[in-house]
Amino acid sequence: MTRRLVVLASGTGSNLQAIIDACTDGALPAEVAAVVSDRADALALRRAHLACIPAVHVGRRDGESRADYDARLAEVVTGFDPHWVVLAGWMRVLTMNFLGWFPGMVVNLHPALPGELPGVHAIERAWNEAQAGHRTGTGVMVHLVSDEGVDDGPVLATAAVPILADDTVDTLAERVHHTEHRVLVDTLRTLCTDPHHFTHGALA
Ligand code: GAR
Repeated sequence: MTRRLVVLASGTGSNLQAIIDACTDGALPAEVAAVVSDRADALALRRAHLACIPAVHVGRRDGESRADYDARLAEVVTGFDPHWVVLAGWMRVLTMNFLGWFPGMVVNLHPALPGELPGVHAIERAWNEAQAGHRTGTGVMVHLVSDEGVDDGPVLATAAVPILADDTVDTLAERVHHTEHRVLVDTLRTLCTDPHHFTHGALA
């Protein structure tokens, strides 16, 4: 059965595009039921429009609490009846007011290895640390989001990305994003076709 994905994205949406392309060419047996963004100007929404996928902007209202926003967001996402909710460059921490509606169904992508560099600008921070001689590599991870921890939760997949001596932030970012596109699509394919593959704890 084709699995329904709702993708939450705040920005450029290159990972969203990788998902859309994989669905289109059959590499991922899923459909993107909707793309939701907290930013009206997110390129991710334009990508959704171009692919004829419902694109919904859910902006935070003046004075609205995080909990109220998350409840409103959950209502929108629930309306698309997802099997999986994919955070692909979603740059807001979600509270249990959202997560409680989707237990074990929310998947996050982060451009760093587990336990490293949570939050924003992880690639730039990794590159800065490499310049200072404190690291020689970084990576990407895909994990489940089970609570309000930032870029933390049961790990589904990781991939290492070396930081080369002549890397600029841009060349490193390009390699990290390239790796993300592959790892995210591969992980979603496994979730959609064989979720019991993840028996080491993540989905047990
Ligand atoms: C990706 O690198 C993703 O891992 C990161 O935002 C970028 C979105 O790129 N997410 C986080 O940093 C979450 N903490 P995209 O909009 O081109 O897909």
